[in-house]
Amino acid sequence: MAYVDLQRRSVLRRIGGVAALSTLVGAGVWLGGYRPALRAASASTAMEGPFDVDLRVRAHPDKVAILPGAPSDVWRYTAERIVGPEDTLMPVGESYAGPLIRLFRGQRVHVRIDNELPEDTTVHWHGLHVPPEMDGQPRLPIAPATSTTLAFDVVDRAGLYWYHPHPHGPNGGRVGFQSYAGLAGPLIINDDAERALELPDGERELVLILQDRTFSNGNELQYIDDGGMGAMMTRMQGFRGERVLVNGHPDARREVSTQPYRLRLLNGSNSRIYKLAWSDGRAVTVIGTDGGLLAKPERRRSVTLAPAQRIDLWVDFGDTEPGDSVQLVSEEYQLGMMGGGGMMDRGMMDGLMDRGMMGDRMDGMMDRGMMRDMMGSERLSLVTFAVVARANDAETLPERLAQDLPASPVQADTPVRRFELGMRMMQGFTINGRQMEGATVADDEIVRLAQTEIWEFVNNTMMPHPMHVHGLQFLVQERISAGGKTDLHDGIIDAGLHDTVLVFPEERVRIALTFKDFEGFYMYHCHNMEHEDAGMMRYFKVVA
Ligand code: C2O
Ligand code: CU
Ligand code: CU
Repeated sequence: MAYVDLQRRSVLRRIGGVAALSTLVGAGVWLGGYRPALRAASASTAMEGPFDVDLRVRAHPDKVAILPGAPSDVWRYTAERIVGPEDTLMPVGESYAGPLIRLFRGQRVHVRIDNELPEDTTVHWHGLHVPPEMDGQPRLPIAPATSTTLAFDVVDRAGLYWYHPHPHGPNGGRVGFQSYAGLAGPLIINDDAERALELPDGERELVLILQDRTFSNGNELQYIDDGGMGAMMTRMQGFRGERVLVNGHPDARREVSTQPYRLRLLNGSNSRIYKLAWSDGRAVTVIGTDGGLLAKPERRRSVTLAPAQRIDLWVDFGDTEPGDSVQLVSEEYQLGMMGGGGMMDRGMMDGLMDRGMMGDRMDGMMDRGMMRDMMGSERLSLVTFAVVARANDAETLPERLAQDLPASPVQADTPVRRFELGMRMMQGFTINGRQMEGATVADDEIVRLAQTEIWEFVNNTMMPHPMHVHGLQFLVQERISAGGKTDLHDGIIDAGLHDTVLVFPEERVRIALTFKDFEGFYMYHCHNMEHEDAGMMRYFKVVA
């Protein structure tokens, strides 16, 4: 292990002292940089230094080399460490991906965000339990050429989280566009419980951000064109790129030795779901989910990773030889699609199209390729692991992992709140018939501080929706499928803690969640970014 906990703690204390100084030096920014809403909020949360970590994050346009040839225009995060342990910031590749922010549970963090973009943005700490005012919600936009200052305590379990923009104006959301342009980065929390397990770290802990992108011949990123039926269909389905980038790079390759590795995957794609598998058919061994380590490893032939979800994999290349290579792939899958009372698959659809039986409504709205794509995905190669060296360590994976997972807080009288996912023709998807309307909540979107509830997502649409709740991690209680199992069901990991859960068509998923510590507004929404931007998103309010 790289760190002994005691050593690490003393480093933190020392850094804490320096933080106080730097906060003082930065006092002008701390006071003057706040927008009015934030100033009020910061007073109520009274987050004061010393800070263990102080970062300055810039969101700005840049040009980076992604494909061979011309560089691509991107928007990206770059960051600077003012105060904090040396490994607080680590580059993730040499492309647009935001740096890896590595925090330790218990740290007090201060972040200044500079918006150097030509439009409003925010920075949302996806998965973290932070006060509403620090959550980067659309009601707290950072205007172009201004800064904002945030502070929070790191209270979450060790795990892979992430940060990304969350702007949503009167004309809709810009999360899809801004993330696609390159604004997203990983955030790892470490803690003592995780360290005690001595999982692979250093060179053998790999952070892998999966994103699909389409480029023009001149290497420019292509998003949804304006107007037209094609654009409308893409907005309904969610944008899917032609190729997969890993940490902003095409054709990802990692050199490994014959040892165990820990792979920390983030699906940072706008809408693509991955069906993760190994090219040599070995089982996929899952040790953690969105909210950190599982109680015990789960082994599957394939693992389903929906947008915004993270998965922690263990893989032992001890059974390979130098010269071998193993690929992490996303296997081909079909989702099936509801039509006229039954599950329609791609074969059936092709048949109907061949016989001209799809009806007028489909003609001209989308072509066959789009229909196929909507109902599944082709096989994609994600990362090639090239075995280049022999190693003699033969670590084994403990069969008992986390011992700090909460027991289910659900009791016989736990209230159930139901959310029906629906569709409004030509306008996109809805939650209980509603769409995003700014920071307002309906009566049934008000919850009680410290209360545990069961939320039931009922999917009445023909598309899967990765449903996300801000500010907390939840347990998946139950998944009831009326529509039959898709190719992706076997790969679903419902164990452990999650902040995003995939709800398939004709399915109801119950999650158990507790609204701890902070009163105020949070959000819940579909994390298919095009759905979210089109309004499949709402606030809820925690009241005492
Ligand atoms: Cu990644 Cu509203 O979240
Ligand atoms: Cu979030
Ligand atoms: Cu959705």
